[in-house]
Amino acid sequence: MSVAAGGADAGAAPRADFLKIEHICKDYQRRGAPPLRAIEDVSFEVTEREICVLLGPSGCGKSTLLRMVAGLDQPSSGQLLLADEPIRGPGRDRGMVFQSYTSFPWLTVRQNVEFGLRVNGESLAIKEGTADYFLDRVKLTAFADAYPEQLSGGMRQRVALARALATYPRLLLMDEPFGALDAETRWQMQELLLEVVSKEAMTVLLVTHDIDEALFLGDRIVFLSRHPGRVKEILKPEFKQGQRLTTKEALYDSPGFHEVSKHVIHLMREEGASH
Ligand SMILES: Nc1ncnc2c1ncn2[C@@H]1O[C@H](COP(=O)(O)OP(=O)(O)OP(=O)(O)O)[C@@H](O)[C@H]1O
Ligand SMILES: [Mg+2]
Repeated sequence: MSVAAGGADAGAAPRADFLKIEHICKDYQRRGAPPLRAIEDVSFEVTEREICVLLGPSGCGKSTLLRMVAGLDQPSSGQLLLADEPIRGPGRDRGMVFQSYTSFPWLTVRQNVEFGLRVNGESLAIKEGTADYFLDRVKLTAFADAYPEQLSGGMRQRVALARALATYPRLLLMDEPFGALDAETRWQMQELLLEVVSKEAMTVLLVTHDIDEALFLGDRIVFLSRHPGRVKEILKPEFKQGQRLTTKEALYDSPGFHEVSKHVIHLMREEGASH
């Protein structure tokens, strides 16, 4: 089973340079030591309605790059353009799911999902309808009035996902969104993400260091080398034949999957990713 990459109701042709990452360098200042170059001359583009995955070993600068696209940090040089507009700070056009799950403990699940909408000044009816729709999508309707501390880690991560989705961001940024989850919840969430993102025709830039996750979710994969992070290779998982898979089993059944997987393991090995 598969669905068309870019969503069933994708409409007009997607623009290939929706997000432009141009010659980005990032140096972190250190006290008593020369600056640390985290990212060096990284350039690539993300196509509208694409799921672009940033893959690479720990410390290669994936979160650094994503935070800069989110506008939470500034590049030392280079430029970032979203639909031709320079990214100068955070904005409602981008939704972010962080590496560790974040929710407001004093708000219920529904209020957490509504939170982004409140910031965006939506009316009460739209707000409640949207929150309930996405709570249903992430299968948390029964827990709408619970508080985060009453939920499991996987459920909390689903709240974070629903909150980000509910704002219909032009660009959804996700930093290892499923890293803290057990294996079963993880693949269920991956399938859910593919389903929702395809249906809503969203553009996604997702960070992971998990090879299977990258190959399952990514329409395209940008592999970063370690220290400083540079684009080592851009891969298109051709074995998916331009379609998105809907189940994890379909990934492992796909002819060609194991070859690509071995190739990416080789790239990781070259980076000395043994920890
Ligand atoms: N605020 C900071 N100040 C100084 N150095 C930093 C800061 N944030 C990140 N770094 C350094 O920049 C490099 C890249 O870090 P980053 O968190 O972007 O890596 P990552 O690829 O997301 O790693 P992981 O897979 O472990 O999350 C690392 O060497 C890290 O020590
Ligand atoms: Mg990180």
